[in-house]
Amino acid sequence: MKKQINVTQSSMPPYKEFMEELYPVWESRWLSNRGNASRKFEGMLKQYLQADHLYLFANGHVALEVALNALYLKGGEVITTPYTHCSTTHAIVRNGLTPVFCDVKEDDYTINPELIESLITDKTVAIVATHVYGFLCDTKAIEKIAHKHHLLVIYDAAHAFGVTKGGISAANFGDAAMFSTHATKAFHTIEGGIVCYKDKSQAKYVKISRYY
Ligand SMILES: Cc1ncc(COP(=O)(O)O)c(C=O)c1O
Repeated sequence: MKKQINVTQSSMPPYKEFMEELYPVWESRWLSNRGNASRKFEGMLKQYLQADHLYLFANGHVALEVALNALYLKGGEVITTPYTHCSTTHAIVRNGLTPVFCDVKEDDYTINPELIESLITDKTVAIVATHVYGFLCDTKAIEKIAHKHHLLVIYDAAHAFGVTKGGISAANFGDAAMFSTHATKAFHTIEGGIVCYKDKSQAKYVKISRYY
């Protein structure tokens, strides 16, 4: 039989260690709705990602969709990147928003800020940009444009868990940032997603979302 060589493999903790961690969950019979393990994890993530307003989800896609939903964007155009997972565009469309694709930089495949302004119209409400393979977008340039045109910025940081720039966590760029903790990611929880909001007032709507 031919040996299968995988391009990548999920990291796994030692089986015994994992089972020991699970034992208190079994004992508590609290399997959903923010049980002890979930809240402990949330606390650790807040510290690691330097994020005060952080919420856990079943996967990265739902996290991004809710992140946009909770920002109460009532229609309009969103400037985004074509070089991403389909989830980024789906989250925009499923929120009733229209994606407008902006080309990427040749060196790291993140959205090219030099091309963003030419795509802004009176319908533009936000920029949804993706950090690619751990390379962060040009957050400074994007922030400058967003500030000038009063746009919200949401980062799809699915590939950027634990990445920092100048000591600042990827969680802290933009109005909201979403991480995926899917089994294919550098840090994973088998499936999972995280949303971090900069502003507490923006975060409050997540709590009334039925997904959280
Ligand atoms: C850039 C990007 N955004 C969103 C997602 C969706 O995350 P999830 O698979 O956790 O739903 C992925 C998953 O691969 C991704 O790579």
